[in-house]
Amino acid sequence: MSNIPYDSVIDKLKGQRVMLVGGAGFIGHNMSLELRRNGIETMVADNMVVNSMVDNAYHDRGDPTKRKLNIHFLMDRFDMMRDAGVEMRNVDARLFSDLAQVFDEFKPTKVVHLSAISSAVEARKNPGLCFDLQLTTLRNVLELCRLNHDQVDNVMFLSSSTVYGDFETPTVDETTRPRPRGIYANAKYMGERLLRTYCHQHGLGVSIVRPSALYGERCVSRRVSQAFIENALAGKTLYLDGGGDGRLDFTYIDDLVEGMVRTVGLFGGREVSATFNLTFGNARTIGELAEIVKEFVPDVNLEIRDRSNDRPIRGTLSMDRANEMLGFHPKWPLEKGYRQYCEWYIGEWEKVVGSRK
Ligand SMILES: NC(=O)c1ccc[n+]([C@@H]2O[C@H](COP(=O)([O-])OP(=O)(O)OC[C@H]3O[C@@H](n4cnc5c(N)ncnc54)[C@H](O)[C@@H]3O)[C@@H](O)[C@H]2O)c1
Repeated sequence: MSNIPYDSVIDKLKGQRVMLVGGAGFIGHNMSLELRRNGIETMVADNMVVNSMVDNAYHDRGDPTKRKLNIHFLMDRFDMMRDAGVEMRNVDARLFSDLAQVFDEFKPTKVVHLSAISSAVEARKNPGLCFDLQLTTLRNVLELCRLNHDQVDNVMFLSSSTVYGDFETPTVDETTRPRPRGIYANAKYMGERLLRTYCHQHGLGVSIVRPSALYGERCVSRRVSQAFIENALAGKTLYLDGGGDGRLDFTYIDDLVEGMVRTVGLFGGREVSATFNLTFGNARTIGELAEIVKEFVPDVNLEIRDRSNDRPIRGTLSMDRANEMLGFHPKWPLEKGYRQYCEWYIGEWEKVVGSRK
């Protein structure tokens, strides 16, 4: 296990200018806040097309409570980024000339690509849009970085643990052969290949990170970790597919953000290419997640239902490489991170919605 003090990573980032494309989302805004906390110049370029304020303000999809909460979380993101001094540009990264304009203005030295339909389930409903938001935007980022290679020393791509497909072993590491299934995972894998190609053929410094099952403050993506606490507070049933034995490598946002900062800080320079799993590094069951919700909402109704046949088989992502090369040691096991998140969620619920059902 290597020990690389976080302060020394931050020192390496001093004077850098980090642009987050798709940075107004859950991961991006949390990363922008961490960069600004450490005095690093940061710009978010986002067209607010996914999980957006407009979408949430206009549609309630039959759930006015969810609409209220989401608008509140999204507004908090903007308030926090503005107060922290993050520069914000409303730009569609599918449009080369628009993205080029903000590149010219900000002159980034590091670029993080986050834009996507960030849910495999949603991506499957709209494969063309999935392709464009992940890969057309990535093409533009890579081309701009290639053309400005004397200025940009690293492009980081947010890939996904879904590139591994159904896990054949309980734990996978970065040498496990990817077997992506579906448009979302395949677009992520294509994105990874494009990054490595730009590195090998054009010398661009690149880094690829593979996160999994994130949860944390101000997320509006409604993954299972959010849906469970929200449904419990709304008096709705929590369903445990196949008894809740499905496993995910749940990761608290602060751990991921630290890993990403370590990656952009420690990796840079021409022809440098690095790929890291960045998760907590220990898959836990959906049933264990539900048990934590039960501590906060003791009368929550849990119901077992049949397992769906196309449910992906997941597991643990090894952190050995990230431990060794990034000095990354995740600090938030589910018992600590998810409890903190539930406490935060209940506080927000009481502020925004009022009493519980
Ligand atoms: N959250 C997770 O658990 C998780 C896990 C693995 C990988 N990822 C990946 O990490 C990245 C960020 O995820 P997130 O959870 O923050 O998602 P998010 O949906 O909260 O954020 C994505 C952001 O991209 C922006 N965007 C989309 N198309 C754009 C375009 N054309 N131009 C500019 N901006 C655009 C959206 O408006 C949104 O703000 C995604 O690529 C996602 O696939 C997320």
